[in-house]
Amino acid sequence: MRYDDIADELDEVLVTHEQMAARLDELAREVERDYDGKELLLVGVLKGAVMVMADFARALHRPVTMDWMAVSSYGHGTTSSGVVRILKDLDTDIVDRHVLIVEDIIDSGLTLSWLRDNLLSRGAASVKILAALRKPDAVKADVTADYLGFDIPNKFVVGFGLDYAENYRHLRDVAVLAPRMYAQSE
Ligand code: PRP
Repeated sequence: MRYDDIADELDEVLVTHEQMAARLDELAREVERDYDGKELLLVGVLKGAVMVMADFARALHRPVTMDWMAVSSYGHGTTSSGVVRILKDLDTDIVDRHVLIVEDIIDSGLTLSWLRDNLLSRGAASVKILAALRKPDAVKADVTADYLGFDIPNKFVVGFGLDYAENYRHLRDVAVLAPRMYAQSE
């Protein structure tokens, strides 16, 4: 079994890597159609988006460039406040560029709502969003994914780039973290 060594830390696998890869392949075909004849810049949001960026970019059968941002939302514990600070900005000038933000998850949506507006204000020709996961029951901000992998329940998930205290990002699948793993430190 894949997670024998940490089986007592995870409740269940929600999305396998095989399911995610198949869905990202479908989304890649949609993106190829939608951006036909246009240059496309993928903007990944560190650190959670590393895995989805790696899989999605490699699923694309067309030229593409990539850049990265790191942002931090002011908040406490597992809730974000919507006030966002840029820790690492783009290296690319995005004036008149078609930008597709690549994210691991829309939780409250506050990060992406801010980021979309921020990139539009820089003069991008368009800004769309690809998110591997969304928690519909947690979304507060007015933000929709133009390309969405999977809707998941409002549970604490890890793997495929998602962490708890920087752990578990490397897991291939998206799994629910056993509540006792974070209950003990709150
Ligand atoms: C996570 C995730 C999104 C954001 C989603 O990032 O990668 O960027 O939170 O939350 P929201 O929809 O409620 O704004 P995090 O700040 O944990 O940083 P990380 O990507 O480095 O793990």
